[in-house]
Amino acid sequence: MDVVVVYETHYGQTREIASAIADGAREAGADVTVVGVEDATAQQVDGADLLVVGGPTHMLGMSRPWSRGKAHPQEIGTGGEIDDGVREWLEDLPAAGGGQRAAAFDTRLPSALAGGAAHGVARALRRHGFELVADPEGFVVEEAEGPLRAGEEDRARAWGAALTGKVTAAVR
Ligand SMILES: Cc1cc2nc3c(=O)[nH]c(=O)nc-3n(C[C@H](O)[C@H](O)[C@H](O)COP(=O)(O)O)c2cc1C
Repeated sequence: MDVVVVYETHYGQTREIASAIADGAREAGADVTVVGVEDATAQQVDGADLLVVGGPTHMLGMSRPWSRGKAHPQEIGTGGEIDDGVREWLEDLPAAGGGQRAAAFDTRLPSALAGGAAHGVARALRRHGFELVADPEGFVVEEAEGPLRAGEEDRARAWGAALTGKVTAAVR
C-alpha cells in the first residue's frame, strides 16, 4: 500500500499537516512518501495507491503565482510571483492509472468566510481520473503565518490513518 502526500507551503503550516497525515498513513501500515510540490514528480505518483494533495487557502481557493508572492514580500518583493504551486502541479499531472485513489486538504483561517483550496484540489484530482475517497478537508491555522490550531495535527494524523484504512480495504 503506497501513499504519496504532496503539499504546497509558504509558512510551513501545510507541511506540518502533510507530515501528520503521512504519520497517520504509516501507522495504518502504508509506505509513505511526503514531498513538497516543487520536488514532486509524476514518477512518484505513478503506481501510488493513494495520492493526498494539499495547499494553503489563498483568496478563498488554491493559491496563484501572485498570491504566493504576497506571502514572501521580503524574499521576492511585493510584486513578485512564485510559479510552483498545487494548482500548476495538478494541471501538469498525467491521468490517473486504473484504481488510483486520492484525497484533498488545505489549511485555512478560522473564519466562516475562509473559503478553502481543497475543493479546487479535489476537482482537479477527479478531472485527472482519481477516485476521491474522502470529502475535501480543511485544517485551521490561527493566523496566516500559523500556528496551527491546537489539535489539528492530531486530527490530520487520524485523517491520514482513516484514508489509508479505507484504501487498504478497497484494494484487498
Ligand atoms: C495572499 C494570501 C491570501 C490568503 N487568503 C486566505 C483566504 O482567503 N482564506 C483563508 O482561510 N486563509 C487565507 N490566507 C491564509 C492562509 O490560508 C495561510 O497563510 C496558510 O494556511 C498557511 O499555510 P502555509 O504555512 O502552508 O503557507 C491567505 C494567505 C495569504 C498569504
